[in-house]
Amino acid sequence: MEEENKRFSTQPLKGMEDSYPSNLRLDNWIIDQIRDIIEVYCYEEYSGPLLEPIEIFAAKSSEELVQEQAYWIKDKRNKKLILRPEITPTLARMIARKSQEFKKPIRWYSVPTCYRYEDTQRGRRREFIQFNVDILGENSLYAELEILNIIIDILTSFGATSEQFQIYYNNRRFIDAICDFILKVPKNKISLIYNLLDKSNKLEEKEFLETINDNFKEEIIKQGILILKDAKSIQEVLNKFNNIPDQFLESQGYKELSEIENLIQDLDITEYCSFASNVVRGLDYYTGTVFEVFDTGKENRRAIFGGGRYDNLLSLFSNEELSGIGFGMGLLMLKLFLETYNLIPEEIMNSDYSDVIYIASINIKQSQYAHKIARELRYEEFPCIIDYRFENLGNQLKKASELGVRVSLILGPKEMEQNRITIKNMVTEEQKIVEFDNIIDEIYNIFDDLD
Ligand code: HAM
Repeated sequence: MEEENKRFSTQPLKGMEDSYPSNLRLDNWIIDQIRDIIEVYCYEEYSGPLLEPIEIFAAKSSEELVQEQAYWIKDKRNKKLILRPEITPTLARMIARKSQEFKKPIRWYSVPTCYRYEDTQRGRRREFIQFNVDILGENSLYAELEILNIIIDILTSFGATSEQFQIYYNNRRFIDAICDFILKVPKNKISLIYNLLDKSNKLEEKEFLETINDNFKEEIIKQGILILKDAKSIQEVLNKFNNIPDQFLESQGYKELSEIENLIQDLDITEYCSFASNVVRGLDYYTGTVFEVFDTGKENRRAIFGGGRYDNLLSLFSNEELSGIGFGMGLLMLKLFLETYNLIPEEIMNSDYSDVIYIASINIKQSQYAHKIARELRYEEFPCIIDYRFENLGNQLKKASELGVRVSLILGPKEMEQNRITIKNMVTEEQKIVEFDNIIDEIYNIFDDLD
């Protein structure tokens, strides 16, 4: 008996999202605004499956993502499947599968829901929406520039300024060249350096130093990591290292980074972009330019979003070499950023009924007539609501007024008999009786007067 009375919790699973209409309204407003920007850059939307073979993430994403954060299931044939923690490997798979069909460069975007078993904290959930924008098959640094421009356009379209956000960029090949030619880090330990730099902002100073000491004995490497942790310009890096060999100055990494810096200057977007040598990103597939966007204030400590260039991701699926660059932007982090700077217009928070036509009736006998009118209005693409209480007209109109409706229609026995309608301007409180056939014109007249 007791079992029957058992009630389940109404809470969603930890880190999972119940999206009530008010939340979804805001999400959609943000997503639509980003879509508008992306589409003027001629990016097309794609989507992929929520489940993928786990191997495609294990190969090149990150050990942490797969070993610690993956939600996975086994299907009936015991095949291990992952709930996508990101969509970039899926994008690579989809392009590798049909690459010949697409004209290069390929400009695509997607708005997937992703899953990561993370500690829930400000800006981090276990289920989250991530806006992804990628360009593939464009090797020149103009692709980098396009992506930087998109980011700036997105954030400034919400009213954000360069005082509120910065895109911190770096280049993995540049870090590789420092490790190779200056610090002489053994090849198998370069990924450890990435790891340390990626965590440098998240670890306490003491813990950071301990980790360096635990992993490296050579003083030059330890000092090198400390320089890379803090340097804020390429010149600063160069000044702090002694004896820079020509090989370094001729390396692809150094050249690319210097060139991107010039392009940023030429395009006059320096106010939005800063070099930061500790930005390397946590995913293994990045090979060249990497960047992270940060709130410059103290409220949001973690990156709002990030991305970079990946040269070899398609090699998981084919022999084709197609380099890509893009970013993933967590909707939640963006929302927190916009909230912090009051960049969400108040009116988005409430449903807008100002264009809705409210149909009130004096009694149930008008129900058919109300439906006939509603059909006519919806056919003309007027949103409308029928009040099904069919009694107490005062209450019906009160409800309309509380919702912020500006035009109500009132139906009584006389109106129905004469095929007429009482139309009420809820703002001026004026009302008159009009012919059914004229109702659309009369509604337009009221909206014209009010706008
Ligand atoms: P990511 O740095 O792992 O990169 O994630 C990008 C963004 O997704 C983060 O900066 C954050 O805004 C959001 N995000 C990540 N995890 C969570 C979470 N648990 N809760 C809420 N938001 C989260 C990637 O995923 C790359 N695939 C991005 C990319 C696309 N690179 C090239 N193209």
